[in-house]
Amino acid sequence: MKILSAFFILGLLPFNPALAVDTEHLSQQSRAAAKALGSELKATLQAAMKASGPLDAITVCNVDAPNIAKRISAGKGMKVARTSLKFRNQTNSPDAWEKSVLNQFEQRKAKGEPVNNLEFSEVSEVGGRKVFRYMKAIPTGDVCLKCHGSNIAEPVAAKLNSLYPDDKATGFNKGDIRGAFTVIQDIN
Ligand code: HEC
Repeated sequence: MKILSAFFILGLLPFNPALAVDTEHLSQQSRAAAKALGSELKATLQAAMKASGPLDAITVCNVDAPNIAKRISAGKGMKVARTSLKFRNQTNSPDAWEKSVLNQFEQRKAKGEPVNNLEFSEVSEVGGRKVFRYMKAIPTGDVCLKCHGSNIAEPVAAKLNSLYPDDKATGFNKGDIRGAFTVIQDIN
């Protein structure tokens, strides 16, 4: 028995590949989930902007964006959301881990790394659970400036103000990091 336990403790446990965390696979799954959310948000926003302009498109971001994130999260069995250092909705405020990754993204951008390449993942802990966390930066494009820039047209600005009195997500320029997709997967 003793020999067997020693074998388990010293031999089997550390080298059993089934017990090791396959971070490459988890990264790929997270990346795919972030991409799914990004593509659907982009398509929905573009369609609404084209059909009725930024004032009505606010509803897409306000109502549809959280619902799309919830549906994709449920479908993929992981938490997929958006966050930012300068957030519009308090619900999207970063936790300590996300904040440090967003700051790391800003530093990497300042050193010349393209915003599109900025991603980071790590095995971490949330509420005592071992989890795999992943983030990918979201660049600010032209279309984003209509609601996140410095010169937001008046009816749009007024509607944003009434929905989000503590809005921090304005004053962005093209090419800035608007925020990031953030993914949490449980590891068993
Ligand atoms: C029609 C107005 C509008 C446009 C255009 C728009 N957004 Fe937003 N954005 C919003 C609103 C409203 C929210 C708050 C959503 C919520 O309540 O969860 C938001 C939230 C976000 C968030 C989540 C973090 C936060 O600030 O709460 C990110 C990230 C984001 N937008 C990125 C973008 C990017 C990137 C673009 C351009 C591709 C863009 N947005 C274009 C209105 C807009």
